[in-house]
Amino acid sequence: MKGIILVGGEGTRLRPLTCNTPKPMVPVLNRPFLEHMIEHLSSHGIDDIILTLCYLPDHIQSHFGDGSKFGVKLTYIVEESPLGTAGAVKNIEDMLDDPIFVFNGDIFTELDLTEMLSLHYKRGAKVTIALTPVNDPTIYGLVETDRDGRVRRFIEKPSWDAVTTNMINAGSYILEREVLEYIPPSSYFTFERGLFPGLLKMGEAVYGYPSNTYWIDIGTPERYMKLHHDLMLGGAFREGVRDKLNIHPTAEINGPVALGKDCVIGPGVLIMGPTVIGDGCRIEEGSVIEGAILWRNVHIGNRVVLKNCIIADNTIAGDGCGIDDGSIIGENVIIGNGNKLARGIRVWPEKRLEAETISF
Ligand code: GTP
Repeated sequence: MKGIILVGGEGTRLRPLTCNTPKPMVPVLNRPFLEHMIEHLSSHGIDDIILTLCYLPDHIQSHFGDGSKFGVKLTYIVEESPLGTAGAVKNIEDMLDDPIFVFNGDIFTELDLTEMLSLHYKRGAKVTIALTPVNDPTIYGLVETDRDGRVRRFIEKPSWDAVTTNMINAGSYILEREVLEYIPPSSYFTFERGLFPGLLKMGEAVYGYPSNTYWIDIGTPERYMKLHHDLMLGGAFREGVRDKLNIHPTAEINGPVALGKDCVIGPGVLIMGPTVIGDGCRIEEGSVIEGAILWRNVHIGNRVVLKNCIIADNTIAGDGCGIDDGSIIGENVIIGNGNKLARGIRVWPEKRLEAETISF
């Protein structure tokens, strides 16, 4: 079956991680996020996948190629300027047959796409929108359905006394090709504010597919981190340390910790999970890492303390640095010795922070 993954957005809320890396390529447990998504789709028979790209398309194309290494066929369509979620699908109308599966490219879920499709057919729906429950409905756009699952209203961020449902649009859709007629060609147009409310007005059969299965969108650093914690603290996490050769015997690793290839962990280092350390990282003597996500080739000096932070590729933290909760450091940053970064600091790629000599 065919599916479309929308991966054209700039991922502004994930900056600085997405300054040089498109959101679908940010690593999740040391593999690009999109690999996890493609695996999920292909497990439901969706193995002919069109990726609609706009922002940093080369990164995605060069990693995935024709898809054969990942067991799927991939086709790439690059938009010259962003067409929005629905505009991106209209743009490739000629390549599509019924039914059309469409996915936001930043959602990690175990949604049962096979069941979703069979309900779509059974109900004779023109559109089926996957729905997922949230704890605080007042900060989301909600989707209200009737007893048969037919969508009655879209409600934008209601006050608590106006809340009638806690279900939100989960970013996975099945469309019948004929609804693409309602999308203007070559223009910016979205599903959420454009097509779906328009279809309701026209009285078209728009249905919801509610599901309590695991679902998270990785659009913000907090949720990107939460996904890691959920995956590693959930029962299914198995693979931890891939390569034990360069872990010093006095280093201590208290799982769950995912350690990539070719890492060097020095004497007296303490790593506490859930933590991810990407390929080629080097952690020097006496450093303490707790709840952090390190991408590739990160170099951490002596006696550095990292807590619940994210550090992107090729960044260096000098001796005695401290990086606290929620801080995010972009690629190729150099943090000179002794710098202390308080909570929630974001450092843009290539930046040099008070470069005292880095001695290791
Ligand atoms: P923010 O800038 O942080 O809002 O992120 P975003 O725009 O990348 O993501 P958003 O949640 O707004 O969009 C949902 C999905 O649709 C993401 O997977 C985006 O990559 C994708 N998307 C958003 N706009 C476009 C677009 O204009 N074209 C295409 N092809 N995809 C898009």
